[in-house]
Amino acid sequence: RITSVSLRRVLDSRGNPTVEADVLTESGGFGRAAAPSGASTGEYEAIELPPTEAIAAARRHAVPRLVDEVYAGNQREVDAALRGADGTENFSEIGANSAVAISMAAAKAGADVLGAPLYQHLGGAFRGENFPTPLGNVIGGGEHAKEATNIQEFLAAPVGAPSVSEAVFANAQVHARASEILDERGIPAAKGDEGAWAPAVSDEEAFEIMDEAVSDVEDDLGFEIRFGLDIAASEMFEDGVYHYGDETKTPDEQIDYVAEMVDEYDLVYVEDPLDENDYEGFAELTDRVGDRTLICGDDLFVTNVDRLSEGIDVGAANSILIKPNQIGTLSDAFDAVELASRNGMDAVISHRSGETEDTTIAHLAVATDAPFIKTGTVQGERTAKLNELIRIADDAA
Ligand code: PGA
Ligand code: ZN
Repeated sequence: RITSVSLRRVLDSRGNPTVEADVLTESGGFGRAAAPSGASTGEYEAIELPPTEAIAAARRHAVPRLVDEVYAGNQREVDAALRGADGTENFSEIGANSAVAISMAAAKAGADVLGAPLYQHLGGAFRGENFPTPLGNVIGGGEHAKEATNIQEFLAAPVGAPSVSEAVFANAQVHARASEILDERGIPAAKGDEGAWAPAVSDEEAFEIMDEAVSDVEDDLGFEIRFGLDIAASEMFEDGVYHYGDETKTPDEQIDYVAEMVDEYDLVYVEDPLDENDYEGFAELTDRVGDRTLICGDDLFVTNVDRLSEGIDVGAANSILIKPNQIGTLSDAFDAVELASRNGMDAVISHRSGETEDTTIAHLAVATDAPFIKTGTVQGERTAKLNELIRIADDAA
């Protein structure tokens, strides 16, 4: 049984406060987790409250329903208590940041009680044998960096890597190679929130640099490396058109453009190619290129089974991004993964642009047999997850 839940404000990678939770159990189990935070957040995400408010509300409403009431190892009960304490659809009462921190901390405490690693506790005895391929953010802009690319993320995908560790190092090498290419072209580049290079180049030039960096590292390492995108198109969509600097594209032009890029660069993954309300556009694009690339809904689905169901009905995508803080609990996130896989869709686990040292998503990706995990390439709060993946692979070997 849970004997205490403590909440505090800690720093995230952008220097903003976020919620951290500690959960203790009667038998000495301990779990600690912190909520991440998005910048290019979807309109339909669960609500992130200012941490001070979220903590006060959770202390008042959620903690009394958890302490001496539920077992940390019973994730469904923990998460039902959080939902009951909040009473809203979108966690606007206690904040999805308090909810997800407590949900994840309870999972860790539950694993601790069992003496099992978190991925095993979450995945159970029937967990798959596969490991997720990390999608490494190498070049980017959008809401994550000023004066950089319009497309938010250019992501290395070492699909042919023989092991997690080789995949992680391959992405780091692509990141380093991209820096050299930028130098060769005389282009200075700061870094965006997730550690990707954020040069003031056109999207076209970013495609070229990415293609070159990926090919060079592929030649060097001898296994297949491709790349993909998170366009985060909702952030570019205004007055019915997509804005690329001074130029605009209509929704039809956007679909043509993305389909062309998929073929020209053999993209393995395209997230949020269209606005978060354009199910039909998503469906058309998926129809055109979904046989050769993943079309993934992030802001479109926001880890929400209702939005995912709508998407499934119209064939809006063949993949969903899973971010536990978009929905508020691990149980809700698992439900979205389940629904996706029952419908033949891939569920990709993801970090947020604002992160902490928390490694829960590395375990979640292994537990759910995710084909990909998005968790950056370099920088401490990203390497925390990548290094944890390497440790899990070692542990599971
Ligand atoms: P966010 O960006 O965490 O700022 O929302 C990540 C993403 O869009 O995938
Ligand atoms: Zn996204």
